[in-house]
Amino acid sequence: MAKLIDGKSISKQIKDELAQRAGELAKAGCTVTLAVIQVGSDPASTVYVNNKKKGCEYIGIRSLSYELAQETGEEELLALIGELNGRGDVNGILVQLPLPGHIDEDRVIRAIDPTKDVDGFHPQNVGALCIGQPGFVSCTPAGIIQLLKRSGVSIAGKECVILGRSNIVGKPMALLMLRENATVTIAHSRTTDLKEVTKRADILIVAVGKPKMITREYVKEGAVVIDVGINRSETGKLCGDVDFEDVEGICSAITPVPGGVGPMTIAMLLHNCLESVNLQ
Ligand code: GUN
Repeated sequence: MAKLIDGKSISKQIKDELAQRAGELAKAGCTVTLAVIQVGSDPASTVYVNNKKKGCEYIGIRSLSYELAQETGEEELLALIGELNGRGDVNGILVQLPLPGHIDEDRVIRAIDPTKDVDGFHPQNVGALCIGQPGFVSCTPAGIIQLLKRSGVSIAGKECVILGRSNIVGKPMALLMLRENATVTIAHSRTTDLKEVTKRADILIVAVGKPKMITREYVKEGAVVIDVGINRSETGKLCGDVDFEDVEGICSAITPVPGGVGPMTIAMLLHNCLESVNLQ
Protein backbone atom coordinates (compact mmCIF):
# COMPACT_ATOMS: atom_id res chain seq x y z
CA MET A 1 0.00 0.00 0.00
CA ALA A 2 1.38 3.41 -0.96
CA LYS A 3 2.23 6.02 1.64
CA LEU A 4 -0.13 8.98 1.48
CA ILE A 5 1.73 12.30 1.21
CA ASP A 6 -0.47 14.56 3.32
CA GLY A 7 -0.27 18.10 1.96
CA LYS A 8 -2.85 19.34 4.40
CA SER A 9 -0.84 18.46 7.48
CA ILE A 10 2.55 19.45 5.95
CA SER A 11 1.14 22.82 4.88
CA LYS A 12 -0.23 23.34 8.41
CA GLN A 13 3.23 22.60 9.82
CA ILE A 14 4.77 25.21 7.46
CA LYS A 15 2.06 27.78 8.21
CA ASP A 16 2.62 27.38 11.93
CA GLU A 17 6.37 27.97 11.43
CA LEU A 18 5.55 31.05 9.33
CA ALA A 19 3.08 32.35 11.93
CA GLN A 20 5.90 32.33 14.47
CA ARG A 21 8.16 34.28 12.10
CA ALA A 22 5.39 36.76 11.26
CA GLY A 23 4.89 37.25 15.01
CA GLU A 24 8.60 38.03 15.48
CA LEU A 25 8.49 40.52 12.58
CA ALA A 26 5.38 42.16 14.07
CA LYS A 27 7.18 42.52 17.41
CA ALA A 28 10.00 44.26 15.54
CA GLY A 29 7.38 46.68 14.15
CA CYS A 30 6.98 45.13 10.70
CA THR A 31 3.46 44.21 9.56
CA VAL A 32 3.88 42.18 6.40
CA THR A 33 1.27 43.17 3.79
CA LEU A 34 0.06 41.38 0.65
CA ALA A 35 -2.05 43.15 -2.00
CA VAL A 36 -4.36 40.70 -3.79
CA ILE A 37 -5.89 41.79 -7.10
CA GLN A 38 -8.72 39.92 -8.82
CA VAL A 39 -10.21 41.12 -12.11
CA GLY A 40 -13.72 39.80 -12.73
CA SER A 41 -15.48 37.17 -10.66
CA ASP A 42 -14.53 33.78 -12.07
CA PRO A 43 -15.84 31.43 -9.33
CA ALA A 44 -12.68 29.25 -9.21
CA SER A 45 -10.47 32.36 -8.92
CA THR A 46 -12.69 33.69 -6.13
CA VAL A 47 -12.22 30.44 -4.18
CA TYR A 48 -8.42 30.59 -4.65
CA VAL A 49 -8.25 34.28 -3.70
CA ASN A 50 -10.38 33.75 -0.58
CA ASN A 51 -8.16 30.84 0.49
CA LYS A 52 -5.08 33.02 0.04
CA LYS A 53 -6.62 35.78 2.17
CA LYS A 54 -7.58 33.22 4.84
CA GLY A 55 -4.00 31.93 4.82
CA CYS A 56 -2.74 35.48 5.38
CA GLU A 57 -5.11 35.93 8.30
CA TYR A 58 -4.03 32.58 9.82
CA ILE A 59 -0.35 33.48 9.97
CA GLY A 60 -0.73 37.20 10.70
CA ILE A 61 -0.11 38.84 7.32
CA ARG A 62 -2.27 41.85 6.45
CA SER A 63 -4.05 41.42 3.11
CA LEU A 64 -5.41 44.25 0.98
CA SER A 65 -8.14 43.22 -1.40
CA TYR A 66 -8.66 44.78 -4.85
CA GLU A 67 -11.72 43.37 -6.62
CA LEU A 68 -11.87 44.95 -10.06
CA ALA A 69 -14.71 44.65 -12.58
CA GLN A 70 -14.36 42.23 -15.53
CA GLU A 71 -14.27 45.17 -17.96
CA THR A 72 -11.39 46.94 -16.17
CA GLY A 73 -8.90 48.22 -18.77
CA GLU A 74 -5.27 47.12 -18.93
CA GLU A 75 -4.01 50.67 -18.28
CA GLU A 76 -6.15 50.96 -15.14
CA LEU A 77 -4.75 47.67 -13.82
CA LEU A 78 -1.19 48.75 -14.66
CA ALA A 79 -1.78 52.06 -12.85
CA LEU A 80 -2.90 50.20 -9.70
CA ILE A 81 0.18 47.96 -9.86
CA GLY A 82 2.36 51.06 -10.29
CA GLU A 83 0.79 52.61 -7.19
CA LEU A 84 1.29 49.40 -5.14
CA ASN A 85 4.90 49.11 -6.38
CA GLY A 86 5.54 52.56 -4.92
CA ARG A 87 3.92 51.95 -1.54
CA GLY A 88 6.42 51.27 1.24
CA ASP A 89 3.75 49.52 3.32
CA VAL A 90 3.02 46.88 0.64
CA ASN A 91 5.45 43.94 0.57
CA GLY A 92 3.82 41.59 -1.93
CA ILE A 93 1.55 42.00 -4.98
CA LEU A 94 -0.48 39.10 -6.36
CA VAL A 95 -2.60 39.37 -9.50
CA GLN A 96 -4.85 36.32 -9.73
CA LEU A 97 -4.68 34.59 -13.12
CA PRO A 98 -6.24 34.05 -15.59
CA LEU A 99 -7.00 37.66 -16.50
CA PRO A 100 -9.84 38.57 -18.91
CA GLY A 101 -8.89 38.13 -22.58
CA HIS A 102 -8.54 41.87 -23.31
CA ILE A 103 -5.66 42.20 -20.81
CA ASP A 104 -2.11 41.19 -21.75
CA GLU A 105 -1.05 38.89 -18.89
CA ASP A 106 2.65 39.06 -19.73
CA ARG A 107 2.61 42.86 -19.64
CA VAL A 108 0.87 42.82 -16.26
CA ILE A 109 3.34 40.32 -14.78
CA ARG A 110 6.28 42.39 -16.06
CA ALA A 111 4.79 45.52 -14.42
CA ILE A 112 5.06 44.05 -10.91
CA ASP A 113 8.19 45.09 -8.99
CA PRO A 114 10.26 41.85 -8.99
CA THR A 115 10.96 42.33 -5.25
CA LYS A 116 7.17 42.26 -4.63
CA ASP A 117 6.42 39.42 -7.09
CA VAL A 118 5.46 36.81 -4.48
CA ASP A 119 4.07 34.51 -7.21
CA GLY A 120 7.55 34.28 -8.75
CA PHE A 121 6.16 34.86 -12.25
CA HIS A 122 8.26 37.93 -13.24
CA PRO A 123 10.90 37.11 -15.91
CA GLN A 124 13.60 38.44 -13.54
CA ASN A 125 12.62 35.88 -10.89
CA VAL A 126 12.28 33.07 -13.45
CA GLY A 127 15.73 33.97 -14.79
CA ALA A 128 17.19 34.07 -11.26
CA LEU A 129 15.84 30.55 -10.63
CA CYS A 130 17.38 29.39 -13.90
CA ILE A 131 20.90 30.53 -12.94
CA GLY A 132 20.66 29.73 -9.22
CA GLN A 133 20.38 33.32 -7.95
CA PRO A 134 18.12 34.42 -5.08
CA GLY A 135 14.57 35.43 -5.99
CA PHE A 136 10.96 34.36 -5.63
CA VAL A 137 10.11 30.85 -6.78
CA SER A 138 6.70 29.90 -8.21
CA CYS A 139 4.62 28.60 -5.28
CA THR A 140 3.30 25.24 -6.55
CA PRO A 141 6.72 23.81 -7.57
CA ALA A 142 8.32 25.21 -4.39
CA GLY A 143 5.54 23.50 -2.40
CA ILE A 144 6.22 20.17 -4.12
CA ILE A 145 9.89 20.34 -3.09
CA GLN A 146 8.74 20.86 0.51
CA LEU A 147 6.26 17.97 0.24
CA LEU A 148 9.03 15.63 -0.94
CA LYS A 149 11.61 16.78 1.62
CA ARG A 150 9.23 16.75 4.56
CA SER A 151 7.98 13.28 3.58
CA GLY A 152 11.54 11.93 3.61
CA VAL A 153 11.78 11.40 -0.18
CA SER A 154 15.40 11.85 -1.29
CA ILE A 155 15.77 13.67 -4.60
CA ALA A 156 19.50 13.75 -5.44
CA GLY A 157 20.43 11.29 -8.19
CA LYS A 158 16.82 10.22 -8.81
CA GLU A 159 15.15 10.03 -12.23
CA CYS A 160 12.43 12.70 -12.16
CA VAL A 161 9.90 12.97 -14.96
CA ILE A 162 7.67 16.05 -15.08
CA LEU A 163 4.60 15.76 -17.25
CA GLY A 164 3.57 19.25 -18.41
CA ARG A 165 5.62 22.29 -19.47
CA SER A 166 3.69 25.33 -18.22
CA ASN A 167 5.49 28.48 -17.06
CA ILE A 168 3.79 28.21 -13.64
CA VAL A 169 4.44 24.53 -12.84
CA GLY A 170 6.34 22.35 -15.35
CA LYS A 171 9.30 24.58 -16.23
CA PRO A 172 10.08 25.94 -12.72
CA MET A 173 9.53 22.41 -11.32
CA ALA A 174 12.24 21.10 -13.65
CA LEU A 175 14.66 23.83 -12.56
CA LEU A 176 14.00 23.14 -8.86
CA MET A 177 14.47 19.38 -9.25
CA LEU A 178 17.69 20.07 -11.13
CA ARG A 179 18.81 22.33 -8.26
CA GLU A 180 18.15 19.33 -5.96
CA ASN A 181 20.42 17.20 -8.20
CA ALA A 182 17.74 15.01 -9.78
CA THR A 183 18.09 13.81 -13.38
CA VAL A 184 15.21 15.66 -14.99
CA THR A 185 13.02 14.96 -18.02
CA ILE A 186 10.10 17.16 -19.09
CA ALA A 187 7.47 15.22 -21.03
CA HIS A 188 4.49 16.83 -22.76
CA SER A 189 1.64 16.37 -25.23
CA ARG A 190 4.07 15.88 -28.15
CA THR A 191 6.28 13.33 -26.37
CA THR A 192 6.61 10.09 -28.36
CA ASP A 193 5.89 6.93 -26.36
CA LEU A 194 4.88 8.79 -23.21
CA LYS A 195 4.43 5.63 -21.13
CA GLU A 196 8.00 4.54 -21.84
CA VAL A 197 9.23 7.95 -20.59
CA THR A 198 7.04 8.21 -17.47
CA LYS A 199 7.90 4.61 -16.51
CA ARG A 200 11.54 5.66 -16.07
CA ALA A 201 10.58 7.98 -13.23
CA ASP A 202 11.54 7.41 -9.59
CA ILE A 203 9.61 10.63 -8.97
CA LEU A 204 6.73 11.38 -11.37
CA ILE A 205 5.17 14.85 -11.22
CA VAL A 206 1.99 15.27 -13.25
CA ALA A 207 0.56 18.66 -14.27
CA VAL A 208 -1.47 18.20 -17.45
CA GLY A 209 -5.03 19.15 -16.45
CA LYS A 210 -6.57 15.87 -17.72
CA PRO A 211 -8.74 14.04 -15.17
CA LYS A 212 -7.34 10.61 -14.17
CA MET A 213 -5.12 10.43 -17.27
CA ILE A 214 -2.26 8.65 -15.49
CA THR A 215 -3.06 5.01 -14.84
CA ARG A 216 -0.70 2.30 -13.57
CA GLU A 217 0.62 1.61 -17.10
CA TYR A 218 2.47 4.96 -16.87
CA VAL A 219 4.08 4.29 -13.49
CA LYS A 220 7.16 2.32 -12.45
CA GLU A 221 6.67 0.06 -9.44
CA GLY A 222 7.77 1.88 -6.28
CA ALA A 223 7.74 5.37 -7.84
CA VAL A 224 6.71 8.49 -5.90
CA VAL A 225 3.76 10.14 -7.67
CA ILE A 226 2.90 13.83 -7.26
CA ASP A 227 -0.44 14.94 -8.72
CA VAL A 228 -0.79 18.67 -9.45
CA GLY A 229 -4.14 18.40 -11.24
CA ILE A 230 -7.42 19.69 -9.83
CA ASN A 231 -10.30 18.57 -12.05
CA ARG A 232 -13.94 17.58 -11.77
CA SER A 233 -14.82 14.02 -12.77
CA GLU A 234 -17.99 13.21 -14.74
CA THR A 235 -19.79 12.82 -11.41
CA GLY A 236 -18.68 16.30 -10.29
CA LYS A 237 -16.18 14.98 -7.71
CA LEU A 238 -12.76 16.64 -7.39
CA CYS A 239 -10.02 14.49 -8.91
CA GLY A 240 -6.43 14.82 -10.04
CA ASP A 241 -4.57 14.04 -13.26
CA VAL A 242 -3.68 10.66 -11.74
CA ASP A 243 -6.15 7.78 -11.39
CA PHE A 244 -5.48 7.49 -7.65
CA GLU A 245 -7.26 4.15 -7.02
CA ASP A 246 -5.44 2.50 -9.93
CA VAL A 247 -1.97 3.92 -9.21
CA GLU A 248 -1.82 3.66 -5.41
CA GLY A 249 -1.37 -0.11 -5.64
CA ILE A 250 1.86 0.17 -7.62
CA CYS A 251 3.63 3.32 -6.33
CA SER A 252 5.48 3.77 -3.00
CA ALA A 253 3.98 7.19 -2.17
CA ILE A 254 1.30 9.42 -3.69
CA THR A 255 -0.43 12.77 -3.12
CA PRO A 256 -4.23 12.77 -2.86
CA VAL A 257 -6.54 15.30 -4.58
CA PRO A 258 -7.75 17.27 -2.72
CA GLY A 259 -5.32 17.57 0.20
CA GLY A 260 -2.01 17.01 -1.62
CA VAL A 261 -0.28 19.71 -3.65
CA GLY A 262 -3.13 22.28 -3.39
CA PRO A 263 -2.62 23.40 0.23
CA MET A 264 1.14 23.68 -0.34
CA THR A 265 0.75 26.44 -2.96
CA ILE A 266 -0.77 28.78 -0.38
CA ALA A 267 1.80 27.86 2.28
CA MET A 268 4.62 28.78 -0.13
CA LEU A 269 2.87 32.02 -1.12
CA LEU A 270 2.84 32.99 2.57
CA HIS A 271 6.50 31.94 2.80
CA ASN A 272 7.31 34.25 -0.14
CA CYS A 273 5.41 37.12 1.52
CA LEU A 274 7.67 36.88 4.58
CA GLU A 275 10.75 36.51 2.33
CA SER A 276 9.81 39.75 0.56
CA VAL A 277 10.73 41.66 3.68
CA ASN A 278 14.36 40.48 3.27
CA LEU A 279 14.46 41.36 -0.43
CA GLN A 280 13.12 44.90 -0.03
N1 GUN B 1 -4.00 31.06 -11.04
C1 GUN B 1 -3.80 29.74 -10.86
N2 GUN B 1 -2.74 29.53 -10.06
C2 GUN B 1 -2.26 30.74 -9.72
C3 GUN B 1 -1.18 31.18 -8.89
O1 GUN B 1 -0.41 30.41 -8.31
N3 GUN B 1 -1.04 32.53 -8.79
C4 GUN B 1 -1.83 33.41 -9.45
N4 GUN B 1 -1.58 34.72 -9.30
N5 GUN B 1 -2.84 33.04 -10.22
C5 GUN B 1 -3.04 31.71 -10.34
